[in-house]
Amino acid sequence: MTTIAVCEPRYYEVSYRINPWMDPTGWQAARTELAIQAQTQWHELKRSLKRLGANLCEIQPQKGVPDMVFMANSAVVHNGKALLSRFRYPERRREEPFFESFFSKLVDAGSLKDMQKLSDGMVLEGAGDCIWDEARELFWCGFGPRSDRRSATMIEDYFERPTVSLELIDERYYHMDTCLMPLSGGDVIYFPGAFSPADLEEIYVHVPEEKRIAVSEADAQTLAVNGVNLGVHYLTGSCGGHLEAQLAERGYQVHNVDLSAFKKSGGSAFCLTLRLDCGSAGRLE
Ligand code: ARG
Repeated sequence: MTTIAVCEPRYYEVSYRINPWMDPTGWQAARTELAIQAQTQWHELKRSLKRLGANLCEIQPQKGVPDMVFMANSAVVHNGKALLSRFRYPERRREEPFFESFFSKLVDAGSLKDMQKLSDGMVLEGAGDCIWDEARELFWCGFGPRSDRRSATMIEDYFERPTVSLELIDERYYHMDTCLMPLSGGDVIYFPGAFSPADLEEIYVHVPEEKRIAVSEADAQTLAVNGVNLGVHYLTGSCGGHLEAQLAERGYQVHNVDLSAFKKSGGSAFCLTLRLDCGSAGRLE
């Protein structure tokens, strides 16, 4: 059963700036409308996920940690094990204890079999920078802006699965899930401008040409890459006509849910969710 963790945007806002999408002054100017918008959009996302068959598991939102809604950043979860995140910026480090207690409750309840903290001094921002590719049985890991390159070793050791590490060179695409997304059928959506020529070659080593879906800068900027893929369904905050056609051609069905209030923080559908059933066997063991 597809199980997805989410966090209601009760205290969501843009009150600091840790990526180029965030504009606290602009948010402040329209804060009441934007807060309402965020609620409406998030509830629509929830309804859409449910309609596509997902079972949702909610973490209690907390005051003073507005980015906690971006659940993908809380941990890497795979085969019933959770590797807890450590954030790059102090603003988000405050979320860590809430995520830790959420995952430890799941372990106590038997929904997860184990959880682990990162080694001292290491940063890794969860599934945002470590995306499971079920077709290739490997993790795509992004490093640079938020996560350390060396965290890949810990991911490999803990989950006993291979990783491909790519450096994120454009500050707008600061998490891997903003510029690369593997899909169920083995296709990979990616924005070439977020990677160095050498890392693009690395992508090509793993993804044959017919499986590559390169998006334009315009599509990348809508955060269309940051979608949730459930079987043939691709749920996204905004999908340009060209990308939608490319996906349809390959048999995917695109579902658009307006998530503009979250884009103001640099996030969209994928970052608002965390698969808890993710794994090599496709389910909890
Ligand atoms: N404002 C948040 C941050 O900068 C957005 C996180 C979006 N999450 C993601 N996985 N891309 O950390």
